[in-house]
Amino acid sequence: MPETNRRVLLKSRPPGEPRPSDFEITEAPIPAPSDGEILCRTIWLSLDPYMRGRMKDVRSYAAPVEIGGVMVGGTVSEVLESRHADFKAGDFVLGYGGWQTHHVARAGGQPGPFGPLKLDPKAAPISTALGILGMPGMTAYVGLLDIGQPKAGETVVVSAAAGAVGSAVGQIAKLKGARAVGVAGSPDKCAYVVKELGFDACVSYRSPDLFGALKAECPKGIDVYFDNVGGDVLKAVLPQVNPFARIPLCGHIAQYSATELPAGPNLGIVVGMRVKIQGFIVSDHGDRLGDFLRDTSAWVREGRIKYREDIAEGLDSAPLAFIGLLAGKNLGKQLVRVAPDPTRR
Ligand SMILES: NC(=O)c1ccc[n+]([C@@H]2O[C@H](COP(=O)([O-])OP(=O)(O)OC[C@H]3O[C@@H](n4cnc5c(N)ncnc54)[C@H](OP(=O)(O)O)[C@@H]3O)[C@@H](O)[C@H]2O)c1
Repeated sequence: MPETNRRVLLKSRPPGEPRPSDFEITEAPIPAPSDGEILCRTIWLSLDPYMRGRMKDVRSYAAPVEIGGVMVGGTVSEVLESRHADFKAGDFVLGYGGWQTHHVARAGGQPGPFGPLKLDPKAAPISTALGILGMPGMTAYVGLLDIGQPKAGETVVVSAAAGAVGSAVGQIAKLKGARAVGVAGSPDKCAYVVKELGFDACVSYRSPDLFGALKAECPKGIDVYFDNVGGDVLKAVLPQVNPFARIPLCGHIAQYSATELPAGPNLGIVVGMRVKIQGFIVSDHGDRLGDFLRDTSAWVREGRIKYREDIAEGLDSAPLAFIGLLAGKNLGKQLVRVAPDPTRR
């Protein structure tokens, strides 16, 4: 076991695309837990697009990381030492330890559904608590089912379709009897989305005629657009929406590192087609955690939903893996293996 806590700090706020020099890797003493706390050693660190937002000091639904602060992030860890009756050394927990090898968590002290939560390694691989059975999976579930409300026979389009959220959205749409059409950044990703995940079609947003490519795959128009990227894809989708279409606005990754915001899409059609557009943040939907875990665990167990993990090795790989995630280098859920997972053979 290392004798220090290795950490990745935010060194500077990038104006555009993050660079490795915006991060600093340092070591600090391993923190000691007080009464009611647990000391955790990170096994899996989740890398997520929202972390780009935490690097900015702008008005948002969550506070930014301070310069010199540890980058935030979801973690699956092993409890090394417990001073809380509900946990013991050797337990595995889902928490919010950030980009570091060790952290202390106050059990029961973090609000919302993503605080320290004991995991059962026999129920599912513990890494899935950061992906298909965690925050990204739940984002797909509530965004699609509660806001998108797809009906059998409708057409659902989802962008970033080969990623953690998008891959689940299309598969849930299929389970509900809808036609699922993905949008992704490369032919390889589109092939994965159709052949392995079972979407009906997938188009590349790099196609010279994205509007025409979507139109060919959505001959009856678009009833639900699950928007993970904003920008040009939203512009190509909007003229093709059917009356009373629903658009869950989940993310706008195409603009997370933009230094200037593009001219917005023309929203006139939203009125004419009586479209419902709703932004959402998954952490407001904690009341759906039980339903999500019940349904998605069963779908994964039965092989009706598939998932992939893209694994970077070692904490020091986190900055480059994060930069790669923003550039679309990941296929499936981007994780960092910070320490060996004793539950995986
Ligand atoms: N509202 C919420 O509560 C909530 C919760 C979780 C995630 N989100 C949002 O959901 C979206 C997907 O997150 P995720 O965790 O599933 O990430 P992900 O899809 O696994 O990874 C991000 C993907 O975005 C795509 N991308 C990057 N730049 C793009 C661009 N300019 N245009 C189009 N696509 C681009 C890349 O795929 P390509 O190769 O296809 O470009 C990349 O693989 C993000 O916008 C995220 O912020 C929102």
